[in-house]
Amino acid sequence: MGYVGNKEAWDIVISGLKRLEYRGYDSAGVVTVSRKRLRLARQVGHLRALQEATPEGLPGTIGIGHTRWATHGGVTEANCHPHRDADETVALVHNGIIDNMDALRTELTKQGITFRSETDTEVLAHLVGLAVREGLDLLSAVRQAMTKIEGTAGIVAVERNNPDVLVAARIGSPVVIGLGEQECWVASDTLALRPFTERMVVLDDGEIAEIRAGSFRTIDLDSRDREKRVEKILHRPEDAERGEFAHFMLKEIHEQPKAIDRSSLGRLDAATGTAHLGGMKSHEERLFDIEKIVFCGCGTSLYSAEVGAYLMTRYARIPAVAEDAAELTVKNPIVDRKTLYVAISQSGETADTLSAVKEVRQRGGLVAGITNVVGSSLARETAFGTYVHAGPEISVCSTKAFTAQVLATELLALRFARMRDLSASEGRAWVQALEKLPSQVNQMLEMTPTYRKLADRFARAKFTMFVGRGINVPVAGEGALKLKEIAYVAAEGMSGGAMKHGPLALIEEGTPVWALIPPDETRDRMIGNLRELKARGAFVIAVADGGDKEVRDFVDEVVPLPPHHATVSPMLTVIPLQLYAYYVALSLGYDIDKPRNLAKSVTVM
Ligand code: AGP
Repeated sequence: MGYVGNKEAWDIVISGLKRLEYRGYDSAGVVTVSRKRLRLARQVGHLRALQEATPEGLPGTIGIGHTRWATHGGVTEANCHPHRDADETVALVHNGIIDNMDALRTELTKQGITFRSETDTEVLAHLVGLAVREGLDLLSAVRQAMTKIEGTAGIVAVERNNPDVLVAARIGSPVVIGLGEQECWVASDTLALRPFTERMVVLDDGEIAEIRAGSFRTIDLDSRDREKRVEKILHRPEDAERGEFAHFMLKEIHEQPKAIDRSSLGRLDAATGTAHLGGMKSHEERLFDIEKIVFCGCGTSLYSAEVGAYLMTRYARIPAVAEDAAELTVKNPIVDRKTLYVAISQSGETADTLSAVKEVRQRGGLVAGITNVVGSSLARETAFGTYVHAGPEISVCSTKAFTAQVLATELLALRFARMRDLSASEGRAWVQALEKLPSQVNQMLEMTPTYRKLADRFARAKFTMFVGRGINVPVAGEGALKLKEIAYVAAEGMSGGAMKHGPLALIEEGTPVWALIPPDETRDRMIGNLRELKARGAFVIAVADGGDKEVRDFVDEVVPLPPHHATVSPMLTVIPLQLYAYYVALSLGYDIDKPRNLAKSVTVM
């Protein structure tokens, strides 16, 4: 976070960092410039600790700050950002990883530099500092330093002799500049800018910006001027506030009906039974010839990718698979003209997903993106795509992004299906099902007391299983992921068919099992799986048609589903699983929005 203007930089930088806290961090620091000196405050731990240690704040109307999540070197004050050069002339903060740090460190040490920290970032501070000492202005010095590094870097720097200028640069990691009247802000995420301004400029890869209170200028790594477009930040400041909810996760679960509504707005065509995705238009001709679709993503986004692949294969009749983006490049993928790649990421900044996208593009493949964050790296790196418009997702545990991503894959599959052999009447039925979804998701949310009662009862179960078939296999995986992630409960999600090949051995008397049994073509087989589970003493909670007597007779508890079209069931069956995980974590007393060991946006590979 950075600020230049006529107000106290300390307050603004701290308030921006607070809005980015959700990303997870272990230490924090700020530098301001006042009377031609760098003023530094750094502290291990929470931002509160930094504020308590610096009760007066730091003077100056220009400043930068950072919340660090340790990658190179332990969680110590010396490793906290901002980092300074040897002369303490420049200071900078850095988001990303410098891959050639060892070589650069050796080279700088030979030039007589003594390092004060174990971080890769300090290398950058010295490179910039040396260039300034040689006579370059800060913009040119940062440009020169950026050409020497390999890896990723979103940075913002200040220089003590030039207290009117911030310089920001981007290779890989996002950097956005907020524009005001006689003041500017810089951040790694628009959430930090929105309370101050609606107008932003997003830096593209390889760009460096010199930012003053009333103006900015952008160049590329070859020093050529770059024209930048001013964009509007679409979310409101209160979208990133918890409001009446105890946790962001709970708020975001309850935002799902609205998110689905927003995501489908203007995209459903009830008359012709199809979907319109603005981003697809320019590529429609090429899409007609597509013979295979490869979805990819990580974590929750991989599960929505799996739903997408199922929908494409089953309804659009296009062979489709979902790949773990982290593994895609490892297997040396075969990329051809007739395959469409669809990368899914809430943040649009997940390093594994971006790396897969770059690899496929580099081989000439056509890549589309599905993301929640406007202007994110994924949106910029893909040929076309769609925003899911779920609104800012703050909790590390992804919930509304899942349903909104699934919705996006539904729209894509519906569009492809109607370009192939899905009839108009079948298409209309699908559209009607999607139109009904927000109110049906609300019905699922209204059963919260049931989920809470089950969560309280099984919070201490040593293992929990989730099973589904067909389109609900990924939902079973997502249910298990939620429980592992925030409640630290060992859990597995799988297909009903896979149980008997091993995992069934984990079932003991009273083991809780969530079984997803919507009234579709998988129901009868799932009933067979229920028999296997009950015979081994499992406590089975079925998410099923409320009127299904046969299911009722078998299981211990039924969460009734409203009548729905088979294509949309993942967006209904996932709701109880999200709330169950939430209430298990609540009952165990964990930090729900910031689970241990995890960060919201995983920008390292
Ligand atoms: C979900 O609850 C997780 N926090 C995690 O699996 C997440 O979905 C994954 O890291 C991918 O993030 P992305 O959607 O921003 O790419």
